[in-house]
Amino acid sequence: FKKREPGVWRYIEFLPIEDMSKIISLQEGNTPLYRCKNLEKELNVKELYVKNEGANPTGSFKDRGMTVGVSVANELNIKSVGCASTGNTSASLAAYSAKANMKCIVLLPEGKVALGKLAQAMFYGAKVIQIRGNFDDALEIVKKLADERLIYLLNSVNPFRLEGQKTIAFEICERLNYNVPDRVIVPVGNAGNISAIWKGFKEFYITGLIDELPKMTGIQAEGAKPIVEAFKKKKLEIEPYKNPETVATAIRIGNPVNAKKALKAIYDSNGYAEAVSDREIIEAQKLLARKEGIFVEPASASSIAGLKKLLEEGVIDRDERIVCITTGHGLKDPDIAIRESEEPIKVEADLEKIKSLLMEG
Ligand code: F0G
Repeated sequence: FKKREPGVWRYIEFLPIEDMSKIISLQEGNTPLYRCKNLEKELNVKELYVKNEGANPTGSFKDRGMTVGVSVANELNIKSVGCASTGNTSASLAAYSAKANMKCIVLLPEGKVALGKLAQAMFYGAKVIQIRGNFDDALEIVKKLADERLIYLLNSVNPFRLEGQKTIAFEICERLNYNVPDRVIVPVGNAGNISAIWKGFKEFYITGLIDELPKMTGIQAEGAKPIVEAFKKKKLEIEPYKNPETVATAIRIGNPVNAKKALKAIYDSNGYAEAVSDREIIEAQKLLARKEGIFVEPASASSIAGLKKLLEEGVIDRDERIVCITTGHGLKDPDIAIRESEEPIKVEADLEKIKSLLMEG
């Protein structure tokens, strides 16, 4: 790939598109893979990287899936697209469908979508509908709209979404000179992304580009952890949550559609699944910002919170090479960031007063 432009479409042979003139792209992908030396010290691990998907055009990994999904829709000459969302999928679909001149409808759980995401979906010009229900309810409805051919569905039940998202794995391999990490830790909601990343690693493996595979490790929130429960019982079937609840609204999902695929990825890779509390999520979000200068939304920080917990539990060895995926930008959810920070100090515009504040440390 060396001579090609970076980004999702760099891997075109691995992507399901026939007519390249139909590609709808906002130059997604090519996100930073940070070596996190301060966190390595803090957590006492040998080699830790963060792949920051918040650096995508609309601020989440969804853009990788959406460029492929919307391009395929464009190839099929589709005019109306839609999705259910906890926020990021809707922001991303709204942007890509705008560029593709398609009509877009998004269904969101009322009162449970972070402010930045809502602003994005509205401002890109989607028809935004808030339902009195949760994400799982919204997904049931849009699936029916799709069955009746009223919209083309762009949730991660759409396999083309996962095709785009698997490029996260390709980029990790390239950036690490094809030395595959021992473990990749992923926040899990509807469970598409962890399945997609695993597919990406397997495709590079089958092609002979890499000769090892990482342990896929999925992290859910305590109040929405059907996959973790299935994993601990060594099962492939989940028992859905009726009322999922977590501060990490992006992964507030009780009945993940890709649960089986995700569990298979975890079992096949000899990986693990664990849940973290809301407090652990917020503490990890702060740690990442304050030790590494990386501002992510709460759901994203669950990968770091999970790493910390699994190190303490002895599941993860301290000398593993680890990549944590952070899935969405911190600015998506300003309310939580402000609520969890100290209040700004308010004083008159007076030099002496500011100096005395500076002395306080
Ligand atoms: N992190 C963030 C920031 C997300 O927005 C999501 C999913 C996930 C993690 C989980 O990824 O669903 O592939 O397991 N957000 C979806 C949405 C559900 O509607 O934006 P997953």
